[in-house]
Amino acid sequence: MLNRERYRAATPVWLHLMHILLLGSGGREHALAWKIAASPLVTKLWCAPGNAGIAREAECVALDASDHAAVIEFCKRHAVDLVVVGPETPLVAGIVDDLAAHGIKAFGPSQLAARLEGSKGFTKALCTEFGIPTGAYGRFSDADAALAYVRAKGAPIVVKADGLAAGKGVVVAQTLREAEDAIAMMFDGAFGAAGAEVVIEEFLSGREISFFALSDGETAIALASAQDHKRVFDHDEGPNTGGMGAYSPTPFVTPEIHAEIIAKIILPTVTGMKARGTPFRGVLYAGVMLTPDGPKLFEYNVRFGDPECQVLMLRMMSDIVPAMLASCDGQLKNFDLRWYPESALTVVMAAKGYPGDYVKGTRIEGLDEAASVEGVEIFHAGTTSKNGAILSNGGRVLNVCASGKSITEAQHRAYAAVDRIQWPQGFCRRDIGWQAVERERG
Ligand code: AMP
Ligand code: GLY
Repeated sequence: MLNRERYRAATPVWLHLMHILLLGSGGREHALAWKIAASPLVTKLWCAPGNAGIAREAECVALDASDHAAVIEFCKRHAVDLVVVGPETPLVAGIVDDLAAHGIKAFGPSQLAARLEGSKGFTKALCTEFGIPTGAYGRFSDADAALAYVRAKGAPIVVKADGLAAGKGVVVAQTLREAEDAIAMMFDGAFGAAGAEVVIEEFLSGREISFFALSDGETAIALASAQDHKRVFDHDEGPNTGGMGAYSPTPFVTPEIHAEIIAKIILPTVTGMKARGTPFRGVLYAGVMLTPDGPKLFEYNVRFGDPECQVLMLRMMSDIVPAMLASCDGQLKNFDLRWYPESALTVVMAAKGYPGDYVKGTRIEGLDEAASVEGVEIFHAGTTSKNGAILSNGGRVLNVCASGKSITEAQHRAYAAVDRIQWPQGFCRRDIGWQAVERERG
């Protein structure tokens, strides 16, 4: 049964109140659509542009999120009560502000608050001003000064384009030569305007985790921790990707570390953004390194992670819609979210060649059989349907997710489902969750 139907069966008709438009087309948006559609508050959900999986939960519409006027027109025509923005690009482009100017409520930060992701230099300066633990850094707008800085500091060192660069703007340089090459590449315009300023940051060693919180501009509540797997191949080898799998919660975020991240990173960020007159509303996704000196922030994203969102949605027991409304309306102070005690894990299936070149339009079979494995939910990340067949339509194509009593059980179920999917042109990592599984084995 669809998640939506499960809840609707028990909900009185008079409670069906809201029209929601979700923007995006990835696995994150499928998970959000699945969770939003389950809310008894929602009568109608659209997704723009969506994908073949999202079409099971929402009506997909061919709207371009970069065309703010078209989105506003759609919202007015269909009496949309809430717009939920999945990816960062429309947030950084100010879609929430433009919707607000027309009286339309949108979940996510304003353009000025989205600078937490849109400008790495902005975030570093905020950390300095409000005492948020992060690596030492310098901000540069010319190559000579940047080169002098890395030569003085030595390697390893991290070179980052200031602006959005589709996940490719960070070079973790193991040698001075790599750092010099990265600086040359960025100032030569490899990332366009995003590389006009470069941030150079101390290399932080430790375990990397993702920490999610929800803010309403005044306060924040924790969502959950997760661990992503950025490298394309097993054993964390190969180039970086958008994320090849994730699990939640991570055992490395102990209750003490959780409290420390809230107190030293999340709350000072919320306070700092408010003090600057640009309160942050929406999802704060902190990239945190658990260093020997405690948790340190190495980046912020201003939205749910993809694929981390998928495991968070599986674990969230509460209705997400009131939480989103509370974030928009400054009502999070007395809010609480309930979570299932189970762990969740997701394996990303990608088109062969990803994150480099790959072909689209290859046929995927066995999805229903895979979804029948206990605890399994499959979210589509890049699919389309043609004459009843599901075809790949992107680099990351499917998210095979599972819940379980432990990460080990969730992993076992997810791979049992993966093994029922017939897609010769696809591949996945076989070791998602390995760090937690190793720890559970003791
Ligand atoms: P991003 O593309 O911004 O997600 O960053 C890519 C990856 O670079 C992160 O997932 C981290 O593994 C790594 N990274 C970023 N900043 C640092 C840092 N200061 N020290 C070590 N690794 C880092
Ligand atoms: N999983 C990484 C990201 O969403 O940026």
